[in-house]
Amino acid sequence: MSDNSNQCAAKTAKKDEFYTQYSDIEAEMNAYVEYNPDVFRNKTILLPCDDPEWSNFTKYFAANFERFGLKKLISTSYAQGAANKQLTLFEMNSPLFDEALHETRGKLFTLTRDTDGSGSIDTDDIEFSGYLEGDGDFRSLEVTRLRDEADIIITNPPFSLFREFLAWILAAKKKFIIIGDMNAISDLHVFPHIMRNEIWMGNAFNKTMTFAMADSYDSSIEERDSLGRKLGKVPAICWYTNVELYKRHTRLVLMTMRENLKYNKALVKKCNEDFGRLEYPHYDNYDAIEVPYVDAIPSDYDGVMGVPMSFVGSYNPEQFEIVGTVSAKQNEGSLNTGKSYKAYIGYRQDGTLNGRTGSTFGKCPVIVKDDGKHPYYVKDGVRVQATYPRIFIKHRKPQ
Ligand SMILES: C[S@@+](CC[C@H](N)C(=O)[O-])C[C@H]1O[C@@H](n2cnc3c(N)ncnc32)[C@H](O)[C@@H]1O
Repeated sequence: MSDNSNQCAAKTAKKDEFYTQYSDIEAEMNAYVEYNPDVFRNKTILLPCDDPEWSNFTKYFAANFERFGLKKLISTSYAQGAANKQLTLFEMNSPLFDEALHETRGKLFTLTRDTDGSGSIDTDDIEFSGYLEGDGDFRSLEVTRLRDEADIIITNPPFSLFREFLAWILAAKKKFIIIGDMNAISDLHVFPHIMRNEIWMGNAFNKTMTFAMADSYDSSIEERDSLGRKLGKVPAICWYTNVELYKRHTRLVLMTMRENLKYNKALVKKCNEDFGRLEYPHYDNYDAIEVPYVDAIPSDYDGVMGVPMSFVGSYNPEQFEIVGTVSAKQNEGSLNTGKSYKAYIGYRQDGTLNGRTGSTFGKCPVIVKDDGKHPYYVKDGVRVQATYPRIFIKHRKPQ
């Protein structure tokens, strides 16, 4: 299996053993600290999928405990995870160590004070606070209680349980910064929160990230990390959060519609080759224009625009309003917000496809044909084709 398929496989085969690099955590947290230097001050942080020996989240926050002015760091480790197979020094050197419980129980680690009298609070002061009653599943009552005690939950959660993990955090109305993949954006349990500005994208967006991973996972990378773990790349990684950062308040600098149709080379090519006319196509069944690239959003259009899902990486709610979405997943299902649309673009008269590929769109009453890739119908001799998954947006103040 290739690195690229690791991500999909994570969901189907529950391949969850991907360990985040210290530099990726540091770069991401810098964005929140830059916006608010006191973002973590006097806060209790819970890292609920993090063994201190293996998790760089634990190492990072322990190393920065004093700089951030943390109140308490809580790390829990999951008994069934690969990290648990090894005994940590924190556990082994503790009077609470019990070999019989090591294999089956989750573990609790805390950091609150200078335990070794070194004069500073750091990684060496992490305390093994004992075994959990169960295996450390974040959904258990005991880890849920730790969630309730915490102010912020930060981690790279198991990919296969991302949706459940996010719901677990949101149920307690907690602040969070967590890693996920791009697919989750259009998930019908995630997108409505993005639309309502309850959650947003963090700093690193749609990035191919290198993770340490279980030995049985395939990877094209030869080298190993300092703990001897295999490294592998996973594409389309991003961070989901409800903690403020500057990126979310940065305005996209855009050209007018006229300027785009003159100077935006990719758009001009797309219009000429795919749409058959040098203009932004209007959807056949929904009052909005198709904008195939984020940098082609016209600054002066005051109606609704359909933009690629990657728009959320540049979404500034002071500049735009999200009014709905159309995505493969939503067409399948039951998003009862009344805000999902099925949008179709009119294509040129000869009905050619021009090599467009992309998601197909479930059931639709007007589809008369399907070429295996795209549902479409013919109206007045014109081929009308489903668009890619799109987010529908409006300028708050068109210029
Ligand atoms: C993607 S890895 C990330 C590990 C660590 N947070 C990091 O970034 O280095 C997710 C971890 O969650 C653990 N895990 C899987 N299911 C879990 C569950 N139900 N509750 C808690 N942890 C779980 C896995 O064993 C795995 O170690």
